[in-house]
This record gives sequence, structure tokens and C-alpha cells, in this order.
Amino acid sequence: MTALRMGVLSVALSLVLGACGNEDRQIEARMEHAAEFMRDELDPAVDGIWLRSGWVLTDQGEESLFPDTEEGWDEVVASAQSVIALTEELKTEEYSDNDPEWIAISDGLIVAAELARDAAQAREEQALFDAGGQMYRVCLACHQRYAMEAPE
Ligand code: HEC
Repeated sequence: MTALRMGVLSVALSLVLGACGNEDRQIEARMEHAAEFMRDELDPAVDGIWLRSGWVLTDQGEESLFPDTEEGWDEVVASAQSVIALTEELKTEEYSDNDPEWIAISDGLIVAAELARDAAQAREEQALFDAGGQMYRVCLACHQRYAMEAPE
């Protein structure tokens, strides 16, 4: 199923990128496959952390985004756990093509997500906020390293 999808992507990309070499096309297809995974899976999971941590200024003053119920905190823990699981998937050959740098950056995301999970488990707001920032810097590092056009 995945091989088929990659195949379809390669065909589509080879039509678009007729001028590029075969290897370029393969990399391009792998990046597109990764982008789909980000859009559909990883991004929604990290939002479960980012949208629940920090402070925003409103008319009423500073408003906390952190959960104020046990259930809310548990949802953040669950989001962090799914970020960890998804990033394990990102490390597999399907996405990484066994590129050691790709895998090392992904490991950095797992470490940061584990910090977020532990902070949410301990109900520690500042630690969760810091871990969220650390996660963001890893996203950025990988995008700067691999993205054809940096998405964010
Ligand atoms: C190991 C590398 C890697 C890591 C880590 C990573 N990304 Fe990505 N991401 C990519 C690649 C490659 C693309 C595709 C770039 C392109 O098409 O130019 C991408 C694309 C995206 C896109 C754009 C998808 C689209 O619509 O085209 C989003 C959104 C995104 N990533 C979110 C994230 C977030 C949020 C994180 C961190 C929690 C993250 N990514 C971490 C490699 C990574």
C-alpha cells in the first residue's frame, strides 16, 4: 500500500520534474510523503500540547492556556504520548530511508516530547511550556535541513 503510494507519487513527480535526476525525484517523493504525515498526523498531535500551554493577553489581562482540570492535563499527556509514537514512526525506513541525520533529529523530538509528557504528568506549567519550545526548535531544525521551502 505504501510502496504503491510512493510509486504513484514518483510517477506524478517525474511528470512534474522531468528535468531532475532520478535520485532527486526519489528524495522529492520521500519529502512529499513526510509532508503528508506531518499534515495529517504529527501536526494535530503537537497542537494538543501547544494549544494547551502558554499565556495570551486579552482585554481581561493575561489568560493561561494550561489545563485547569485533571482531564485536560491527561489529554496533554496523551498528546505527548502520540507525538512520541508518531516520531518513532517517522524514524522508520519508510520516512527516514535510514538517513542517520534524519533519525538523530527525530530522536531530539522524542526527547522533547518525553519532557512534555513528564511535565504534563507532574502538572508543571513552566516545564511544559519549555518542553513545547524545545519541540518547536526540533521541528524547525529538520525543516531547515530538509525542506525545499520551509513550511514553518
Ligand atoms: C525528521 C524531520 C522532520 C521533523 C522532526 C519535523 N518535520 Fe515537518 N516536515 C519535514 C519535511 C521533510 C517536510 C516537507 C518539506 C517540503 O515539502 O518542503 C515537512 C513538512 C511539514 C509541514 C507542511 C506539510 C504540508 O502541508 O506540506 C508541517 C505542517 C510540518 N512539517 C509540521 C511539523 C511539526 C509541527 C514538527 C515538530 C513537532 C515537524 N514538522 C517536525 C520533516 C520534519
